[in-house]
Amino acid sequence: MASRGSFSSRAGFILAAAGSAVGLGNIWKFPFEVGLGGGAAFVVMYLAFAFILCFPVMVTEIAIGRKTGKNPIGAFGALGFAKWSFVGKVGTFCGMLILSYYNVIAGWALGYLVEMIMGNFDVGKNFSQYTTNLVKVLFYTITFMTITSYVVGRGISGGIEKVAKILMPTLILMIVSLAIYAFTLPHAMEGLKFYLVPEFDEITAATIGGALRQAFFSLSLGMGTMIAYGSYLSKKENIVSSTALVTLTDVCIAFIAGMMIFPFVAFNNGGDMNNLVSGPGLLFINLPNAFASMGPTLGVVVGSFFFLLIAFAALTSTVSLLEVPVCYVVDEMKVPRAKAVWYVAGIIYLFGLPSLLGFGISDFFSNGIVLPASTDFLSFAASLADTLLLFGGFCIVTFAFFIWKKENLVAEIKNGYEEYEGSFAHRFLDIAISYVCPTLLATLFVLVVLSHFFGISLI
Ligand code: TRP
Repeated sequence: MASRGSFSSRAGFILAAAGSAVGLGNIWKFPFEVGLGGGAAFVVMYLAFAFILCFPVMVTEIAIGRKTGKNPIGAFGALGFAKWSFVGKVGTFCGMLILSYYNVIAGWALGYLVEMIMGNFDVGKNFSQYTTNLVKVLFYTITFMTITSYVVGRGISGGIEKVAKILMPTLILMIVSLAIYAFTLPHAMEGLKFYLVPEFDEITAATIGGALRQAFFSLSLGMGTMIAYGSYLSKKENIVSSTALVTLTDVCIAFIAGMMIFPFVAFNNGGDMNNLVSGPGLLFINLPNAFASMGPTLGVVVGSFFFLLIAFAALTSTVSLLEVPVCYVVDEMKVPRAKAVWYVAGIIYLFGLPSLLGFGISDFFSNGIVLPASTDFLSFAASLADTLLLFGGFCIVTFAFFIWKKENLVAEIKNGYEEYEGSFAHRFLDIAISYVCPTLLATLFVLVVLSHFFGISLI
């Protein structure tokens, strides 16, 4: 065990897991989905799903990881069910896929940080020009992947944990101060109203599914990140309370991100919240324009601060994505971590090229993917990953409860939480893991496959 590394403290584990969870999903995707999906009503659904569905899945993943002390592929074999290692294989592939396109967006954020520091707010108006500048996008995506690899190469306590301990508190301070500043801008109230006033007629079965999927992605579930992180956790720690803290942090940061973004957007649009830019444009088009109207000095400060925040949030997530395949190569192929990292990162980087080229550089990757509707490669990869996560989540809970057996799961959770058996948490988790999670995940998986890949919308 010692050579694999471990987290040095409970706080370190919680910050690293929360760092994995808090990412582009919270700061960019969540606010946007809330805006479209019924405001406060979406927030309430998201909260409910985070605790009813995601929390139990995270407890399960961490418990499997800690019990086996293994990567997500090896973990199933270590429990005596090598046949189930396909779940870890699908998960590891899915993590590599997510990192391949996530790194592209993170690279844009890094590039925008530099543009903001130089006071070049016009990048917002020329987003498509930016994404087709091959030299820039290659440079920043390679830089971001290199930073990620460097951190993962330093190991768990000396790399991932250390970075999370510095970046997470900084990130919380930054996001809260930016949200407070955003309140003081003209039209802030219109933005907040759009964000927070529930519009129940916008709640459809599709938005409910969206809230569920968003919660699942945001908490980094379904591919084994938390199995890998759990494998570095000490037996003394209480998995249930640690998971509760991670979930709470993720949900709070997503919520605050909306409090920051919508006042900025409203400020930029003069209070008009119709015709919002969707997709990546929300961050990369609307906001630089808002920073531009703050004037040269303030704009540079707020703009740089904002994109630095995005880069920090992305980094603590990209390291968790890279850790999964690296952990596999280190455990099973006995390659030293410092070396494994560069091979794995290189492969994932190549995987990401179609996503990188899919914003105007290559026609085929920009709109030639037929899904059934034509789309760009990044969106295709994201849809595929989303689908695989739901599949993975379903398999993980089903495996833990019915194959590995619930008694073993309970026994693992009891390490660090003596009073678990018979407690409220125990009763809740039993019901959630046995019935609620498998049913919800399987249903959503089928609906997502039908709608993403066959254009059939049952809801
Ligand atoms: N949760 C992160 C976000 O919200 C992304 C992420 C990191 C992730 N690791 C993951 C998503 C594992 C799914 C699975 O941005």
